[in-house]
Amino acid sequence: MWKRQWLTKKGSWFRHGYYGKVASLFRPREVKKAENFSILEEQPVQQGLAELSLEAKDALRVQEMAKKQAEQLQEKLKKEVKIYRWNPDQPNKKPYLQSYFIDLTTCGPMVLDVLQKIKAEVDSTLTYRRSCREGICGSCAMNIDGTNTVACLKPINIDTTKPSTITPLPHMFIVKDLVVDLTDFYRQYKSIEPWLKAKKLPEDGREFRQSPTDRKKLDGLYECILCACCTTSCPSYWWNPEEFLGPATLLNAYRWISDSRDDYPEERLQALTEGQKKLYRCRTIQNCTATCPKSLNPASAISKMRTRHLLSLPI
Ligand code: SF4
Ligand code: SF4
Ligand code: FES
Repeated sequence: MWKRQWLTKKGSWFRHGYYGKVASLFRPREVKKAENFSILEEQPVQQGLAELSLEAKDALRVQEMAKKQAEQLQEKLKKEVKIYRWNPDQPNKKPYLQSYFIDLTTCGPMVLDVLQKIKAEVDSTLTYRRSCREGICGSCAMNIDGTNTVACLKPINIDTTKPSTITPLPHMFIVKDLVVDLTDFYRQYKSIEPWLKAKKLPEDGREFRQSPTDRKKLDGLYECILCACCTTSCPSYWWNPEEFLGPATLLNAYRWISDSRDDYPEERLQALTEGQKKLYRCRTIQNCTATCPKSLNPASAISKMRTRHLLSLPI
């Protein structure tokens, strides 16, 4: 009997002596444990249960603290995105920037991912164009943090201390929110007859052939996705949208002028230089080249066409 009591006391001493001291070294301050239950001194089972329940309570408290910290971190990772809004069904309401707060940890890396998340989870009335999500169709062109680009190729700025601003392509008529009217843009594109014009049928009756060297001349031209980022960033186009064809259309005109299979390069050039405004309104400011999301160089194409035209003039 005395032996059992002695062992129980020794066990209790061990639990609350060294063990307690060592354990307290590793325990967070906030979850400091009660050192003793004197009322349960002679009841080891209850003593053990009381300790277990205390430990469970401590674990819960630690869990809650971790959850709170995770919430605070998540709050810090929320990015403010300001988006241009205008609805033609409410013509008396002026356009405005609407703020959305997006958790970047649950969102894809591109601006288009952010827009998709907003549309799917926050505000289904937000309107924008998109199709391929791969930088091929050119439909998601918009102005992001002051630069014209395609939203699917532009990573969202992860600095959550500053908001990101998304507006439509500048100097265009707005259809709704981020959607601009591209009717004139496509009319101008159509005016350069962007298709192969040949005087004869192909020799084999099947296809027009081209040497690798001639094919190489189209590199840097054929990749244009007609996103209109360059045209809408061009000051000359802003002031003369009806007469000046703009860099996108002119780059494509040069693409057909450079094509060895086309039989009408001179006529094409002639059509561009009629009236002096379609081509010559370019002031070589190079905004177009700086903004192109496909890294093309419309300014260089324009300059080459001008040189070719000037050289062809009679002296
Ligand atoms: S280089 Fe010519 S087409 Fe390009 S932005 Fe300047 S003015 Fe416009
Ligand atoms: S040249 Fe570049 S910016 Fe201009 S329409 Fe083509 S892909 Fe877009
Ligand atoms: S969705 Fe096609 S270019 Fe962005």
